[in-house]
Amino acid sequence: MDKKLNPLNNIEDWEDDLLKRYPENPSKKTEEEFRDYKNSKRAEGVKEFYKLNHQYQSYDFVCDKEATFLQFNHRRMSLWDAVEFLNTLVDDSDPDIELDQLQHLLQTSEAIRDDGHPDWFVLTGFLHDVGKVLCLFGEPQWAVVGDTFPVGCSFSNSIVHSEYFSLNPDNSNPKYNTKFGIYKENCGLNQIKMSWGHDEYLYQIMKNYLPQEALYMIRYHSFYAQHKEQAYNYLMDKTDLKMFEWVRKFNNYDLYSKAPVQPNSRALKPYYEDLVAKYLPDTLNF
Ligand SMILES: [Fe+2]
Ligand SMILES: [Fe+2]
Repeated sequence: MDKKLNPLNNIEDWEDDLLKRYPENPSKKTEEEFRDYKNSKRAEGVKEFYKLNHQYQSYDFVCDKEATFLQFNHRRMSLWDAVEFLNTLVDDSDPDIELDQLQHLLQTSEAIRDDGHPDWFVLTGFLHDVGKVLCLFGEPQWAVVGDTFPVGCSFSNSIVHSEYFSLNPDNSNPKYNTKFGIYKENCGLNQIKMSWGHDEYLYQIMKNYLPQEALYMIRYHSFYAQHKEQAYNYLMDKTDLKMFEWVRKFNNYDLYSKAPVQPNSRALKPYYEDLVAKYLPDTLNF
């Protein structure tokens, strides 16, 4: 893996960092967590990762990626195959605390199922990160994972490591660097181009098959500046505001369902195959 373009040892390092930013129980943060050498090395990688992300995720960059990936001509596969394909993503960090992708998906969806939510919500938990297959199509980490944010208007200071936006060409482009940029006040997120990554990609694959709530969860689950910080209320319309309640509901499962007990994927497979068959076609174009 090219360290310069892919500074994270493991793409999950970004998500582990989210847990530090948004701990489930803030009083539980341990001191060792911050002294630990491995964690500080990991934090360096995360910083480097955001630097690349904020530098290169410009309006034109997003247009470029959309032109490439929204043709869906990279691979045709069933959802289950996509999940298994995603699981071949091999990271070079120590395997101690890392769960593989399938386990993260199943832990998220099983936690949703345990709470008695509707089946489409469970399915959303199960597939929400499948867009990360972009990594297997050769995309660098910073164009697949990480917090997402609107492009085409000024970058909010609430975005993590917003200092690195000084490196983004849009930051000095008068077309894009004002509060509203190319958009109108409260025009609604559907009008807004978001930074490119696994969220938008999977949304575009799923948009004809799942209820609106599920599509919001998929499309905006990494938009922390909004669902945690409410930094872009001025772009949101009424539907967005209502639907973000679901994004927040989903986020709790995404962040806080990691448990040391690994779900038994073999035993769960029949349930998920039926669930997938209820909502999705046999194969999908990626
Ligand atoms: Fe994700
Ligand atoms: Fe996730």
